[in-house]
Amino acid sequence: MSTYRIATIPGDGIGVDVTAEAVQVVDAVLPGVEWTEFDWSCEQYLRTGAMMPADGVERLAGFDAILLGAVGFPGVPDHISLWGLLIPLRRAFSQYVNLRPVRLLPGTESALRDRTAEDLDILIVRENSEGEYSELGGIHNPGRPEEVVLQESVFTRTGCERIIRYAFERARERDGRLCSATKSNGLIHSMPYWDSVFERIAAEYPDVETRQMHVDALAAEIVLHPDRLDVIVGSNLFGDILSDLAAAVTGGLGLAPSGNINPHRDAPSMFEAVHGSAPDIAGQGIANPVAQILAAAMMVEQLGERAAAAAIDRAVCEVLAEGSVRTPDLGGTATTTELGLTIAKRAAELVGS
Ligand code: NAI
Ligand code: MG
Repeated sequence: MSTYRIATIPGDGIGVDVTAEAVQVVDAVLPGVEWTEFDWSCEQYLRTGAMMPADGVERLAGFDAILLGAVGFPGVPDHISLWGLLIPLRRAFSQYVNLRPVRLLPGTESALRDRTAEDLDILIVRENSEGEYSELGGIHNPGRPEEVVLQESVFTRTGCERIIRYAFERARERDGRLCSATKSNGLIHSMPYWDSVFERIAAEYPDVETRQMHVDALAAEIVLHPDRLDVIVGSNLFGDILSDLAAAVTGGLGLAPSGNINPHRDAPSMFEAVHGSAPDIAGQGIANPVAQILAAAMMVEQLGERAAAAAIDRAVCEVLAEGSVRTPDLGGTATTTELGLTIAKRAAELVGS
């Protein structure tokens, strides 16, 4: 078995607790991983004035993957924590795909109670490097009555083509259905362009059934008819909002994983839960570690260790279905560590069997 070198950035709040559990679960199925922890966080920002050192990107570049907890905590403005670590890493390592699987896991209670695991199994492919999250813009005449704020979006041909093509490839491997999130009725330059790229690439994939929906209607579709959806592709902002919505209609943010993927594998990909540092429950030991454990399973899968990834996934499903060990967000009384350890033990049994 090969040895992997994986960097962890536990970050802030519950990011620290859930990352410890995810590391333990990976160790249970994949012995010999060499972990290196980086304590880059808001605490470090308050001490040093930077979320990560100036050579942060170079220090991470040689790793096989990165497991990120969450960054952001009261006391440091969110745009500083986000633009000081998360966004620079995604861009430096060309992690232009943000993959966000949304599944109704066995034994969890969804907002859509009558739906079953077969009805809700969606993969959100979010553009992760440009779009609405751009640094272009500024404030003209600040503080004056004629104040003007400009926030530009950036849609490049390369950026649109590569994310849409990636989504078609994933749809081909799954149910063969792809829905594109648009808003061409409101955003009259960027979204018609996005749509034209989508239509051009769709012609290369006649076997994939396509739809284009305005993002507001698509939000309603996720709640009302999740069974009609398989893979969704969206811009940076649309993909971000849709995936929190989708997580909320399944069992909540404590269950939703995410991967920042560099499909060319010339730099490390980075895996994290969809949720943030949850300051409201930080330090209490009650965060649900499942989202981060499933993010670690996506990481193990991307490393090529399919059996180990499948063991983690099955362990999570079995433990949730049995229902005796649950964190408070799932209606139980277990701690983060109790649930993490239960999943790790089960995964270790499954990988051997
Ligand atoms: P959040 O995801 O941290 O929390 C939202 C709500 O969900 C809270 O009530 C929280 O208790 C609950 N929750 C989240 N994860 C949970 C878990 N594993 N188990 C049980 N309950 C859970 O979002 P919020 O409050 O908007 O952001 C807090 C901080 O995290 C901010 O500084 C924000 O910028 C940062 N953040 C960082 C992200 C990242 O590093 N990728 C992503 C999202 C937010
Ligand atoms: Mg989000």
